[in-house]
Amino acid sequence: MPSPSVLEQLRLQAPQISVGMLTADWMALGSELKLLENAGVKLLHFDVMDGSFCPMLTFGAPVIAALKTPLLKDVHLMIDEPLGKLESFVAAGADIITLHAESSPHIHRALQALGKMTNANDPARGIVRGLALNPGTPLCAIEPLLDQLDLVVLLAVNPGWGGQKFIPATRDRLSRLKEMAGEKILIDLDGGVTRDNFAEIAQLGVDVIVTGSAVFDGKAPAANVRFLLDILKK
Ligand code: DX5
Ligand code: ZN
Repeated sequence: MPSPSVLEQLRLQAPQISVGMLTADWMALGSELKLLENAGVKLLHFDVMDGSFCPMLTFGAPVIAALKTPLLKDVHLMIDEPLGKLESFVAAGADIITLHAESSPHIHRALQALGKMTNANDPARGIVRGLALNPGTPLCAIEPLLDQLDLVVLLAVNPGWGGQKFIPATRDRLSRLKEMAGEKILIDLDGGVTRDNFAEIAQLGVDVIVTGSAVFDGKAPAANVRFLLDILKK
């Protein structure tokens, strides 16, 4: 039987967490990845920042390529003009690639180009095309792009740092976004998720919830993952 595409997997497994690697222990990355794998996590969220689109500079395609893992790579590009760099992230094994609506006047063209690329892990997986919206971006930005999208990533914080506070207006934006996006497009919420608000966020009807510092808090990542996954099972 052919393996299900990444898009089908996202639908079947919703809601699920995508764990942000930004605050992981990079001195022990191998064991951090193993810990997530053993816990049953399926998605790894990579926050790629270029120091221009947002203030911080993190890592790029070579670092993502170097991480050998059976988990799916969910790549969030917070970079200006992503079009010319898409191929390098595809070659790095990205399964989901999210571009920011604000990152280029030619975002439609970038999404079109992404739609023609092949998953480097396994062509049958396909590449999920995501569009991210900053908290200050009107939701109607997705409207002309709906036929080029699989996933909308709603930012609940301003991009740039892990561990920020969830912006309350995101809840209202999310319910309006769900109406606009319809059944076909998946929704991902990114930023400001904590152990305290996770149960409530899990009820909001999104397909993917990004959890960075709620897992990698520098103390007990394994217990944190178990805590979050137990809530999703309820
Ligand atoms: C914001 C990033 C988020 C963030 C998540 O710039 O896109 O993915 O790092 O981290 P937490 O879960 O700590 O808010
Ligand atoms: Zn992110």
